[in-house]
Order: sequence, then structure tokens, then C-alpha cells
Amino acid sequence: MKGWDLFEVARRIIPGGTQLLSKRPSMFLPQQWPSYFAKARGTEVTDLDGKTYIDMSMMGIGACVLGYADPDVDRAVKAAIDDGVATTLNAPEEVELAELLLELHPWAGMVRYSRGGGEAMAIAVRIARAHTGRDKIAFCGYHGWSDWYLAANLGEDEALDAHLLPGLEPRGVPRGLQGTALPFHYNQIDELKSIVKSNRDSLAAIVMEPQRGNEPAPGFLQEIRTIASEIGAVLIFDEITTGFRMTDGGIHLLLNVSPDIAVFAKAMANGYAMSAVIGTEEVMQAAQSTFISSTNWTERIGPVAALATIRKFRRYKVADHLIAIGNQVMDGWKTAARKAGLKLHASGLPSLCHFAFEHEEELVLTTLFTQIMLEKGYLACTQFKPSFAHTQQQVDGFLVALEDAFAILAESLDRGTSASLLKGPVAQRGFYRLT
Ligand SMILES: Cc1ncc(COP(=O)(O)O)c(C=O)c1O
Repeated sequence: MKGWDLFEVARRIIPGGTQLLSKRPSMFLPQQWPSYFAKARGTEVTDLDGKTYIDMSMMGIGACVLGYADPDVDRAVKAAIDDGVATTLNAPEEVELAELLLELHPWAGMVRYSRGGGEAMAIAVRIARAHTGRDKIAFCGYHGWSDWYLAANLGEDEALDAHLLPGLEPRGVPRGLQGTALPFHYNQIDELKSIVKSNRDSLAAIVMEPQRGNEPAPGFLQEIRTIASEIGAVLIFDEITTGFRMTDGGIHLLLNVSPDIAVFAKAMANGYAMSAVIGTEEVMQAAQSTFISSTNWTERIGPVAALATIRKFRRYKVADHLIAIGNQVMDGWKTAARKAGLKLHASGLPSLCHFAFEHEEELVLTTLFTQIMLEKGYLACTQFKPSFAHTQQQVDGFLVALEDAFAILAESLDRGTSASLLKGPVAQRGFYRLT
């Protein structure tokens, strides 16, 4: 298989083999995952061997919300390329996009841009620290690779373990940052209160996703908003993954709580590199009092792609489609599991859903599931991030294949053959050094 062979080369010359943990083939199906794509369109991905699969997994890790190579977004990008993407002058689309983001989020007054999610979070945290003149950050959830965040694991190996990616190592993060990133768990307001109690005057920001796996407990977000305002900390909502999936903009618009800063990336530009930090004028002005500046944050493709993506997202009510398709797949997982007699727990937002087998051989089962589905022509794992390009027909076909796959899994459990049916090693989970 050309893809896996190429990944073997990559592992020797690119540490980790790829730039994103979630694209490591060993996380899906070691030695069998197609690993690289030659072409992608709609929901279809063609690998280096010329095999085409329907992506019923993560659609560009949540970035390609409209589908791969969306014709409207790509037309706008190609026109921008023809007119030049980087000059000594600025791209006017930056202003147009800022106006659009502010129209969607009326609580915000100013916008800055970068090109990745993690770097946008680093910008947001810098602005919060500059605005408050304080150092510490209380946070919940995963927020990228930056020093400010990994500092939570300095001297305390397990602080980040319940925050989406367990085992993140803080090597290379200055020891001096120890004690500056203080974790609390979602819906555990008392944990935040206890952080606030001992750090009232040193908290620059409270950083969190407004919602991800669980619904907010009644009053949870409102209480956080009140605490942030009371102690003068900046409330930062990380909407990198939740933005432009449940509504036109951040999910916080549905939850009726306004932050001081919200951060977008991924779905906002359908896979083109783009991220935005939006915030109240008062807080965002602090970006002027510190140095936040980079050449490639001024190129034209990102804003052009974001404008085309967001306009299409609104025009076609894409969020409704994602929610409908996501609900069908979630129901499909549950129904297929029930029919096969497998124990499975499905959870998450419909447009960001996932499941887990409730079985001691869970990892063997998920690996075998991916192997069986790949043979049936699907990229499938325990997560599903629907896109506008997923059709009813594709979902129906997937659900038939799914029932068949789950029946095979159940039978393998009965016979004790699950592990022996695997044609390669079991998938890796979390952050483990890739050997
Ligand atoms: C909530 C959240 N924050 C930050 C990030 C990091 O974004 P990026 O991978 O674009 O750096 C992610 C990525 O998955 C995310 O889900």
C-alpha cells in the first residue's frame, strides 16, 4: 500500500510523521490506513493507490464543513489567486470578513486574524494577559499545542488528562510557567471557584469551550460569566471546533452567554488556513499594547475562503443539515449496536458526535471496525463530523454497511476471534510517542 509505505518514509524524516496528532494513521488502523490522499471531492477521498472512499469519519478533522473541494469556496479562492494573494498592501477581504463576523456576533467589536487554531488561542491568551496585566489562566478542555496551555502539565503529569488529549508532555515548556495554567472540569463550578479563591487577583482569563461533550448544567455558563466579570478576568470561548457547526457562528449564540473573546478556526474556511480572534473593543484594544504580528496572517486566501464558506453556510442553512445527518448517524450507531447485541455509548453534539464500545476489548473492536469499514469503502472511526456534502443516499448506504460491520464484531466477540481478525496492530490512542 503506497500510503503506508510513504508514511514509513515520513516517520524517518518528519518527527511523528505528520503535523497533526489526529491525522496519524496509527490512530486509526496501523499498517492499513490509506494515510495520504491524492484527490478529494465532496465526501470522497482517493488514496495513492487510486482507491476511493466515502469519508464517514472526521472530514478534515472538522475543517471541511461544506465538503472537500467545495466549488463555491474554491472558485472564490482561485479568483483571489489570479488577482494575487500577497502584496505590500493589505487584502480588503480582511475588513469584509471582520464586518461579517461582527454582524454574526453583535457582542463583539473587533477582530484579529491568524491561520491556525492553536496560534489563535495563543493570541487570545496574550491579549487577555496584556489587558489584565495578570499571568494565570483557568481553563477547561483542549486548546492546542502552545506553551501557555501545556504549562498545566509542568510538574503535574495528569492535569491535562481529562481535557480531551491525555498524556501531553510539556517538555520544552519553560519551568517558570509552572502554576500559570490551572485546569477545571466542565460543569464543575466548584473547581473553578476554588481556583478563583486562591488566585482572584492573578487570573487573566478563563478559557473554555462553551459546550462540547456534555450540555452545560443549568446556570453553569452564566455563573462563569458572572465570576469572570466580578474578578476582572477575560472570558475566552474557544469555538475552534464548535464554531460554524450548530449555528451561523459560535455555539455560544445558542447558549445565550457572551464571552469577552471568541476564537474560530477549522470550519470557518472549509479547510483553508484561517483563524479569527473576535472580542469586545475594550479587551481587543490590548492587542495594540503588545506585539502580535506575522507576515502570513495577511495573505488573502484565508479571508476569501472564510467569506465564501460563511456565506454559503448561512445561505444553505448548513447547520441544519449537519445536525440532521449527525443525528441519523448517532441513531444508526445505537440501532446497529442494539441489533448486534454490542454495548455502545454514543454522545456529543449531533454535528460533532462519537461513540465508544463499552467492552474491555474496546480498542481491538474499534480497530476492527475501522478495518471492516475500510474494506467496504468507508473511512470510519468512532467519531463523525458531518458535512454539507453528505447526502441522504450516502448516509443510508453507510448505515447498511454499519449494521453488517457491527454484526461481524459481535460474532467475533462470541467466538473470541476479534484480535485475530485484525490484519495489523491495534490502533493507538491519545498522545503516545510514535515509535
Ligand atoms: C477546542 C480546540 N481548541 C484548539 C484546537 C487547536 O486547533 P489547531 O489544531 O487548528 O491548532 C483544537 C483542535 O482540535 C480544538 O478542538
